[in-house]
Amino acid sequence: MALPTVVVVGAGQAGSDVAAALRSRGFTGRIVLLGDEPEPPYRKPLLSKEYLLAEPAAEDLELRPESFHTAQGIELMTGERAVRIDRDARRLLLASGRELSYDHLVLATGARPRRLSVPGADLAGVLALRTLADARALRAALAGTGDLLVVGGGFIGLEVAAAARTLGVRVAVVETRDRLMGRSVSEPMARHLAGLHTERGVRVLLSEELAALHGENGRVQVAELASGERIAADLVVAGVGVLPNTALAADAGLEVGDGVLVDARLRTSDPLVHAIGDCARFPSPHARRHLRLESVQNAADQARCVAGAILDPAGAPTYDAVPWFWTQQYGARLQIAGVTDGHDRTVTAGDPAGGRFSVFCFRAGRLLGAESVNRPADHMITRRLLATGDRSLTPDVVAAPGFDLKHRQFQPA
Ligand code: APR
Repeated sequence: MALPTVVVVGAGQAGSDVAAALRSRGFTGRIVLLGDEPEPPYRKPLLSKEYLLAEPAAEDLELRPESFHTAQGIELMTGERAVRIDRDARRLLLASGRELSYDHLVLATGARPRRLSVPGADLAGVLALRTLADARALRAALAGTGDLLVVGGGFIGLEVAAAARTLGVRVAVVETRDRLMGRSVSEPMARHLAGLHTERGVRVLLSEELAALHGENGRVQVAELASGERIAADLVVAGVGVLPNTALAADAGLEVGDGVLVDARLRTSDPLVHAIGDCARFPSPHARRHLRLESVQNAADQARCVAGAILDPAGAPTYDAVPWFWTQQYGARLQIAGVTDGHDRTVTAGDPAGGRFSVFCFRAGRLLGAESVNRPADHMITRRLLATGDRSLTPDVVAAPGFDLKHRQFQPA
């Protein structure tokens, strides 16, 4: 019998990791890793941080060198786009006209930035940030920018704002919600982040909306807010969230809905097709609902889970990794363990004024997670507590005088 073929669509973190994990676990069949970008897989988290300040060394940017793929017998096809899945024939059709047969297909198609919908959004100087090409364009633009307007106070917007301020650019951030990172962090952490940015001269405009962008000779110059205020902006970066790339799956009749829908083993409605990473919507035992997570952790852990499932379908474990996220803004490293939205109580431990503290988030007295600034031990221990189901960390325990997570003993629940 011919050896099986795994085709992976999408050469980002999730796609690259599943190909590598299959080989490292002994898969001997054919592996094709297909990506529509021209570069071999690279590290996305750098792009909104260090990359904007200086060109990194090639080996710091690449996820795995091109030579890794050759050495591992992974057929890396860059600049190739999959356009259709023929599930009956188990074939993938590419934009170039080529066809690939598969025994297992892994969709790791990621997500794309939401575009601004205001008048003037198509002016030159209005950028988004997702790919290496986007980051190159943004870094070049920042070098000649006086006034940057960031639209959206989430991960991307705040990281770009921090980098631009570090480069000496004047920066304003406009956010429709009444706090920064409203999707991802608690109120106390959002306030801390707003402080970090305003202290460094960023103008943070909350509960405010962009109404239009105006330009001269086709280039953006001025932003008009819903309040009527006009602010100078010779560069605009939109960080208003992402949309999962689900068209390929939907056209093939797979179930989608804000992501490609998968089961607890990350299988789509076709058992020969898995979906992982930013494009996949899965049942999370930690959040107790379906989630789509945009993080390196999720991409990497789902990739390992699916590699295991392809190698041993009968013994496939369910995906239960504890979610975690991080962002770096100025000197502050914020690490988030768990899914903290929906909390009804927070307790802060440590030294917020000194920039080293954690906000522990609870729901009905149960720990959902922690948001830690420059307190990596709190982050790591919280991840362990969530993974083991340890329930001993209650709001009262954290609120007690002298509380220090590093020096506590924990009992499994
Ligand atoms: N005007 C202003 N703010 C807006 C608008 C708008 N028209 N639309 C949305 N927003 C705000 C949201 O309220 C939210 O605070 O934009 C913010 C988007 O933040 P995120 O959801 O964190 O999305 P983004 O910052 O684009 O990051 C997308 O890329 O690298 C990854 O991990 C990162 O998951 C993140 C993803």
